Amino acid sequence: MKGVLSERKTLHPLEIERRELPAAAGYAVRALAREICITLDSRPDGTADVARTLTDPALLEQIDARVGELPDAVRVAIRPPATTAGATIVGKLPLTDAEFGPTPPSWVEAARWSGEVERRANSFELDIVMLLLARSAGEPFGWQGQQGGRLVNNIVPSPGHEHEQSGASSKTLLSPHTEDAFHPDRANLLMLGCLRNPDNVGTTVSSVRRTDLSEDERLLLRAPTLPILPDVSYGTGHERYSAAPLPTLWNAESDGDTADLTLRYDPAYTPLDAADAEFRVAYARLAAELDRVCVTAVLTPGELLLVDNDVAVHGRVPFTARYDGTDRWLKRVNVRLPERRRRAAEADENGYGQRIVAPFRAVGNPLAIDGIPARATARTGVRLDTTQHDRGTVEHS
Ligand SMILES: [Fe+2]
Repeated sequence: MKGVLSERKTLHPLEIERRELPAAAGYAVRALAREICITLDSRPDGTADVARTLTDPALLEQIDARVGELPDAVRVAIRPPATTAGATIVGKLPLTDAEFGPTPPSWVEAARWSGEVERRANSFELDIVMLLLARSAGEPFGWQGQQGGRLVNNIVPSPGHEHEQSGASSKTLLSPHTEDAFHPDRANLLMLGCLRNPDNVGTTVSSVRRTDLSEDERLLLRAPTLPILPDVSYGTGHERYSAAPLPTLWNAESDGDTADLTLRYDPAYTPLDAADAEFRVAYARLAAELDRVCVTAVLTPGELLLVDNDVAVHGRVPFTARYDGTDRWLKRVNVRLPERRRRAAEADENGYGQRIVAPFRAVGNPLAIDGIPARATARTGVRLDTTQHDRGTVEHS
């Protein structure tokens, strides 16, 4: 049986929805990002370095003011996943391997190198690409305690972190999880852009809407039973916050239908021992079902993986890092979908003191084509606290 499941994971990648970004639309995104990049870098007052931190109001203004210039095909391609898979591969942005330089050894170098205007090849323009795409889908945001609050994160393997449950790891299996499951402001949509993946390392995705649980099991998992704690990278300060029990499953519209089932799941940070045996059995059944329906997305350069963070959990298969500048390199953006409903009770959660960096805030989201929200109309100021510890080397991805 195990062999059958393994085969299912590796031989049927098309179980994930796939969309094609028309070539002209891909070139339009690249061209607009290039224009914005040149505009910011050519300012005479030496503020180009600030822009490259992705916090410069001038950069954010440019993104908001110009994202509407992109062809509608971009917004159509980048809309949230539409099938029960809860994930979509979007192909393909035009890229050349030489244009963004060697894979950095950690997110710190990735951020620093992209900020060096004089560096011949860096990934700043691709950060702008990711922001434009994310802004086409919703509201990009970051975390104060993650990768210095950057709105676009870099996921690369880092020496010394091979065995962590983190995006910097390589040799260990990154177990399936909801991104930032502990927090009420977690992303609705996770956007992963592939710059480089020479060893065909797979990202795993499992949709709760493809699981087959009994009514009794779903009932148990819908009851608020256990908290989800911040992962170890957030440090030890969370103990002073109360840990409220959360439901693992929730239905946005119905009383229990699978079609609108959502989940919030991170077993590595869920104190299962505190639950009774009946709940633990139901939770184990959910884990087994998520494994059964798991599919693997092997991204190639220029492809994007969209993960509906309310519907699907994600992880990564083990691999051996090269550390020679050619390693797997992904860009990641968290996106809030303003039209998405969450449990009203989440508004009362303390989030263990963690705060988001949310420079884009929708005032209204008038519907445009086929129910796809038009871009937001206003944004709030950037709130940054760069004194927070670095989370980037130990975060999930
Ligand atoms: Fe993750």
